[in-house]
Amino acid sequence: VNKITIAIDGFSSTGKSTIAKLIANKYNYIYVDTGAMYRAVTLYAIDNKLITSDFFNVEELINSLSKISLLFKFNKDLGFAEMYLNNINVEKEIRTLSVSKLVSKVAEISEVRKKLVAEQQQMGKDGGIVMDGRDIGTVVFPEADLKLFMTASADKRATRRYKELIDRGDKVNYDEILFNVQERDRIDSTREDSPLLKSDDAIEFDNSDMGINEQFERICTLIDSKL
Ligand code: C5P
Repeated sequence: VNKITIAIDGFSSTGKSTIAKLIANKYNYIYVDTGAMYRAVTLYAIDNKLITSDFFNVEELINSLSKISLLFKFNKDLGFAEMYLNNINVEKEIRTLSVSKLVSKVAEISEVRKKLVAEQQQMGKDGGIVMDGRDIGTVVFPEADLKLFMTASADKRATRRYKELIDRGDKVNYDEILFNVQERDRIDSTREDSPLLKSDDAIEFDNSDMGINEQFERICTLIDSKL
């Protein structure tokens, strides 16, 4: 069978990873959450005191990039891959609000992007992959067979993220989450290198009011038409 490349881009918390996991499961494709990679580099920078809310030693982070190893390991019980930073499972740590608050600053650095994009292209070189992020259809796989672009209202997205964090037992407040979602979108859309934008050939899905099942069915029809 023909194993295609599927690129999913869009604003934060638009349900990209939910859709991507469903696709990967149904078609037996590899799912790569590229946001996890930017988050892991950010965690490294925080742990090594290279970044705080009012300080960022960009040069030192760039010098440290060769010491940062990122690996996805499939967890059978969970049904998806977890992120390992220098051989330590950091899946929980990378999803905290403290990482979310700094990740867009780290993702602006071209040297960081260059390293991660090269690794992403390597993972997807044989097709049979569904990758989500901000620059997948524009930069990582401009030749992808199917490109999706997800949007939803800021309120819907913040509510989704808020529930996720509360369910995990994190103490967060809604306004802080809403601010973070909007602030990340602003930085991600206006940065110089690989800004978040919908490529001309991407199909847009606004899921403010569309349920995940309806959306998934429509996307499967699109995928099936490419196989
Ligand atoms: O997808 P997620 O919300 O986990 O991504 C976290 C952040 O990583 C984004 O807000 C963005 O700054 C950065 N990112 C990126 N390019 C990607 C994926 C994520 O710049 N392909």
